[in-house]
Amino acid sequence: MLARRLQGIPPTIFSEMSALAVRTESVNLGQGFPDVDGPPGVIARAVEALENGQNQYAPGTGVPALREAIARHQGRHYGLDLDPDRQVCVTTGCTEGVAAALLGLVDEGDEVVVLEPYYDSYVAMIQMAGGVRRPVTLRWPDFRLDVDELRAAVGPRTRFILLNSPHNPTGTVLTRDELQAVADVAIEHDLVVITDEVYEHLVFDDHEHLPLATLPGMFERTLTLSSAGKSYSFTGWKVGWASGPAELVDAVLAAKQWLTFTSGAPLQPAVAHALDDEPDFPRELATDLQKRRDLLCSGLGEVGLDVRVPEGTYFALTDVSDLGWEDGLSFCLALPERAGVVAIPTQGFHDSEAGRHLVRWAFCKNPSVIEDGLRRLGDARLQA
Ligand SMILES: Cc1ncc(COP(=O)(O)O)c(C=O)c1O
Repeated sequence: MLARRLQGIPPTIFSEMSALAVRTESVNLGQGFPDVDGPPGVIARAVEALENGQNQYAPGTGVPALREAIARHQGRHYGLDLDPDRQVCVTTGCTEGVAAALLGLVDEGDEVVVLEPYYDSYVAMIQMAGGVRRPVTLRWPDFRLDVDELRAAVGPRTRFILLNSPHNPTGTVLTRDELQAVADVAIEHDLVVITDEVYEHLVFDDHEHLPLATLPGMFERTLTLSSAGKSYSFTGWKVGWASGPAELVDAVLAAKQWLTFTSGAPLQPAVAHALDDEPDFPRELATDLQKRRDLLCSGLGEVGLDVRVPEGTYFALTDVSDLGWEDGLSFCLALPERAGVVAIPTQGFHDSEAGRHLVRWAFCKNPSVIEDGLRRLGDARLQA
C-alpha cells in the first residue's frame, strides 16, 4: 500500500529499540532523551500559558515573544543580527524544520549533499521531497570531514548541503577549518546550506560550536535550524526554529503552513522565557553532560569496547568488530538478552559500509542509570 515516496526507507530504529528495552526490562542507553526535565521555571511558564488562555492557534511564524527571543539568542551567542518578523520562524521541533526546509526548497532530482552517518529523518525527508542524497562519510575513529570527499560529492545537479554539527551520532563538532571548507564549496557551486544545530550548546572540553551562518558570505545562503529539545531538556515539547535570510525562511513557511500550520501555542512563551531568562541552563547542562560522557566512555572502555570520546551531543560510538560481531545490529539485538542493556546500531544511518560495526550509546541519562548499564555490561559476555 505504501506510496513510492516512502518505499525503501527503513522504519525508525529508535522506536524498535526502545520497545525492546521495555519488553526486556533493559537499561535504555539507546534513544536520546534525558531522564531529568529542564528548568522548573520554564515548566511553570507553560502551565501559566495553559491556564491563561493561550490555547488557540499561534501565528504561523510563531508567537512574537519567541521569535524575538530566538533573534536575541542568535545575537547574544553568535553576533547574528536577525529580524524576528522576517528571518525567524517557529517549527514543531527541528524535525519539522528539516521537513519543511526540504519540502519547501528541493525540486525533483535535486541533489543534497549530506554527512553520513545521517540523522535518520534526513534520509526520509530528502526522499519524500524528491531529492537525491549524496553522502560524505565521517569515518571511524576520528570522524573528521574529508574535504576531498565533500568536493567529489558535488555535481551539476547538487543544490544543497544538509549539515549537522555538533553531529549525531559521531559526536564530531566541525572545526572552523572544516566549516570554512563547506563554505568554500557552497559559495563556489552556489549551494544553499541547511544546517541542523540542535546540539549547539552541548559541546565539551575546549570545543566550540560555530554556526556556519557566521562565516563570511554564508548568512545569505544558510538556513539554520535548532530546537529547545536538547538545549533545555524538553525533547517532548517539540519546539524548534528556523532562521536565516527571509527567502529561505519563507520557503520553510510555505511548506510548514500545509504540514502543521502552526506549532503548540502554550509552549512557545515558555521557550521564550527559557531563552531569555535561563540563558545559563544549556552551559550548565553541557558541563554536567561532560561528566556523564566521561563516566560512560571510561566504563565502555573498561568492559572492552573500543570507544570514541565525542566532542559534543548526547552520544558516544563504539566499534564492536574487535569483539567478533558480524555487525552492530546483531550485537544490539543480542545485548538485551545477554546484558539487559539497549544501544543503537548505526549501520542504518549509512549507505556505505563505514558504519557496519558502529554502535551508539546515549549518556544523557542519570549517572545511576549509566552505572547500572555499565555494571550489567561488565557482568555479561560481550564477545560474539
Ligand atoms: C541531529 C538531530 N536533529 C534533529 C533532531 C530532532 O529534534 P526535535 O526533537 O527538536 O524535532 C534530533 C533529535 O534527536 C537530532 O539528533
